[in-house]
Amino acid sequence: EPGRAHEALRRVRAVPDHPVAGVTFQDVTPLLADGQGLHDVVEAFALAAARRGEVDLVVGMEARGFLLGAPLALRLGTGFVPLRKAGKLPPPTRSVSYELEYGSAELEVGRKSIPAGARVLVVDDVLATGGTAEAACALVEQCGARVVGVDFLLEIDVLAGRTRLSGRSVTSLFGVPA
Ligand code: PRP
Ligand code: MG
Repeated sequence: EPGRAHEALRRVRAVPDHPVAGVTFQDVTPLLADGQGLHDVVEAFALAAARRGEVDLVVGMEARGFLLGAPLALRLGTGFVPLRKAGKLPPPTRSVSYELEYGSAELEVGRKSIPAGARVLVVDDVLATGGTAEAACALVEQCGARVVGVDFLLEIDVLAGRTRLSGRSVTSLFGVPA
């Protein structure tokens, strides 16, 4: 029920100038720490997922994508595959570099983690510039799998990250002004 997820949204804390000046950090940890909030948000993700038809696998990006992706996978009855930052996964891996709102980074996936042809739902907490999600989709597709949706808890509208995901089915539970 959307109203309940709205209630949960009130627990997200906007922290100005973190981790660097000019960036507003959206802290979802107080929401996750609340049992009702976690439940309501995962249910809202499940409703969004149901619109994509069959989902074979949920993929989440380190680190905050793990916090929502794994409970969603459990809820949908699928497995969960982590996309990790460079150097964390054992070989063999595939990797892709991407730019962040602050700095640059590299995401990796285990070469055998995502089966070719799988219908994959990509999940993260925040859509900002879209760099992380674009990299995640590229990795999934390099595995020969299909991205059926890219879902976020929060979308920072002014950063227009959605434009980097054009042609994809993107859902954000909530928009935030900045
Ligand atoms: C944050 C957030 C998203 C990403 C969004 O992750 O969790 O993954 O930034 O930014 P973008 O749309 O501009 O790419 P971050 O890499 O800061 O680290 P964390 O998830 O490991 O905390
Ligand atoms: Mg992240």
